[in-house]
Amino acid sequence: MTKVAIAYHSGFGHTAVVAESVAEGVRAAGAEPVLLKIENAAQDFGPLLDQASNADAIVFGAPTYMGDVSAAFRAFAEASSKVWAVQGWKDKLAAGFTNSHSLSGDKLQALASLSVLAAQHGMVWVSTGLPPGSAAGKTGPEDVNRLGSFLGVMTQSENASPEVTPPSGDRETARLLGVRVAEAARRWRAGAQELAQAA
Ligand SMILES: Cc1cc2nc3c(=O)[nH]c(=O)nc-3n(C[C@H](O)[C@H](O)[C@H](O)COP(=O)(O)O)c2cc1C
Repeated sequence: MTKVAIAYHSGFGHTAVVAESVAEGVRAAGAEPVLLKIENAAQDFGPLLDQASNADAIVFGAPTYMGDVSAAFRAFAEASSKVWAVQGWKDKLAAGFTNSHSLSGDKLQALASLSVLAAQHGMVWVSTGLPPGSAAGKTGPEDVNRLGSFLGVMTQSENASPEVTPPSGDRETARLLGVRVAEAARRWRAGAQELAQAA
């Protein structure tokens, strides 16, 4: 079965909700989600890196802290240089998401960091493929892609429990990313098998 790893950090639980929505989409598309939670910057990343290496695609997720990915996610990214040394993630699919408190909050910088990480590994980046939430003439918390992001999923949470924020539209946006990555990974895998048979 196609496997999609979701490697994410969440200091206060809001980005974790987004990661779970991505996993729900992966499952809905008939693939297996593997949630890889980054706990802190000092942990042993070996087991997470091994599990990510086993997947067909890796979705990276981090909260935006001070205009970029959180330090714990950055530590994971640096630890992945061990995988880079053996080109372990080359040609896997990648995608990303970030959550923060402000509507903008410089989330684009965090998504840029996630996509550069993927490019350093020689991965193939999957965009959101979603029209902006305002396409229907309005933008509200129940709308898909209300923050109008194409590079990766942007979600926004209030200073309240992750049970209620980020809102339903943001969770659905993340779920749709999971569906898109899982479907792309299935196509990618089938194509790789075809190439191997032709060789
Ligand atoms: C150290 C720190 C820095 C933050 N910097 C930003 C920021 O640059 N932009 C923003 O919109 N929110 C910022 N926030 C708010 C968080 O992005 C927000 O609380 C988010 O929900 C955290 O996600 P989490 O619950 O997964 O940790 C910051 C929060 C912390 C703790």
